[in-house]
Amino acid sequence: MEKISKEILFPRDTIQKRVRELAGQISKDYADRELIIIGVLKGAFIFMADLIREISIPCRIDFTRLASYGDGSDSSGKIVMTKDIETSIKGRDILIVEDILDTGLTLQYLVGWLKERNPDSLKICVLLDKRKRRKVSFEADYVGFTIDDGFVVGYGLDFNEKYRFSPDIYVIKQ
Ligand code: IMP
Repeated sequence: MEKISKEILFPRDTIQKRVRELAGQISKDYADRELIIIGVLKGAFIFMADLIREISIPCRIDFTRLASYGDGSDSSGKIVMTKDIETSIKGRDILIVEDILDTGLTLQYLVGWLKERNPDSLKICVLLDKRKRRKVSFEADYVGFTIDDGFVVGYGLDFNEKYRFSPDIYVIKQ
């Protein structure tokens, strides 16, 4: 069996504390409004499940899925939507929830796609931000943790479909 060495980056308690802080900020910013939260599959499913249970305003949820073609850990820039949302977002407040912002290509594509449907507002919440790896100018509105380069797994994030179910986040050692 393939043996991969990994080191803990964020233990579960640290993640839960930060998720609660993000949810508190989002609840405050959208007080008296109803949010539509769009999760990006598959990686965001655990983060989104925890986040929405801490948000104290009414929200609806939907999901999208995008594929980026490249050599495993690096995106080539060719993004394709493989699952569209099923909710009308015209005139609504939208929050995209994503696991990690890396080159920015995936979210740039998704924002362009959703804006064509004329939401009233559109913001982005990411758990992790690899700011130094950006290929396009792109910022998230809510960021859990900013991290350095390195491949991370756990809490929804995978390496060849492994480690998604780990409650802690690890960085893979070369
Ligand atoms: P971007 O288009 O380069 O910003 O890529 C974002 C997508 O790449 C994320 O939704 C993840 O699926 C994947 N990704 C980027 N970095 C990592 C990582 O360190 N671990 C797991 N997936 C990653």
